[in-house]
Amino acid sequence: MNASGRIGFELIGDVAIIESQSKAEALEVMKKNKRIKTVFGKKSARTGVFRTRKIVWLAGEKNSITMHVENGCRFLVDVKKDYFSSRLSFERARIGKLVKKNENTLVLFAGVGPFAVICAKNGANVTAVELNPHALKYLRENAELNKVKINCVLGDAFKEIKKLGPSADRVLLPLPFGSDDFIPSVIKNSKKGCVIHYYTHSSFRNENKKKLKPFKDVMETIKRACKKEKVKCKILFKRVVGGYSPNVRRVVVDIKILK
Ligand SMILES: C[S@@+](CC[C@H](N)C(=O)[O-])C[C@H]1O[C@@H](n2cnc3c(N)ncnc32)[C@H](O)[C@@H]1O
Repeated sequence: MNASGRIGFELIGDVAIIESQSKAEALEVMKKNKRIKTVFGKKSARTGVFRTRKIVWLAGEKNSITMHVENGCRFLVDVKKDYFSSRLSFERARIGKLVKKNENTLVLFAGVGPFAVICAKNGANVTAVELNPHALKYLRENAELNKVKINCVLGDAFKEIKKLGPSADRVLLPLPFGSDDFIPSVIKNSKKGCVIHYYTHSSFRNENKKKLKPFKDVMETIKRACKKEKVKCKILFKRVVGGYSPNVRRVVVDIKILK
């Protein structure tokens, strides 16, 4: 329950995920929201390379598979086995609007395909790379469900970017954890004119709650990567996409490679 006495939850399809493991709260959520069929409670933070979390069934149907609809696209998700955040739908719509017909878009860390599908729907030739075999299986199914073609690659983005080389017009990096280590390799393997959408974390306050210049740490990481790879770039856009902790925000920076 939050400070205003409301029970907060994330809704993915007809599954709600609440912060607590309280059956009473779960029943309350179901009573107030008739479209919710199942409620799980969080048992851990997101962990491991697949960025999934432990959840415990609390109420409704004992089913972790659901169909989530956003921006006119449908996504099959297993909330136990796949990463999915319904809170990023606005960001996915923003990227969908930027995509040009027939451009080559590379979606690394693709999950069940929310970025990949909207880019393909808007006419891009999409290659999507994902390490979690279950998420990749659903990504394939989600491409079919949404009647788009996506080149789905089961593999490690760190290796695949080197194999694919600088062919993409747009590269999406939706992995806030670990994407900082990866940005030099992406910059190195991007052609002139390529736009990189770089999702990462930025500290807006230090441990003593002193305000820091927003995005300063991220800009330094990009500068360092460009210097290392001897590449010039231009920052097209940046924004906060969500909260992470009281001092840290999830952010996106759009980078254009000038070479
Ligand atoms: C933060 S999630 C983003 C998923 C998806 N883009 C979305 O917005 O729902 C990161 C995804 O990257 C995958 N992943 C983690 N490390 C990877 C790697 N080295 N190569 C490819 N995929 C990886 C995880 O399994 C997870 O699905």
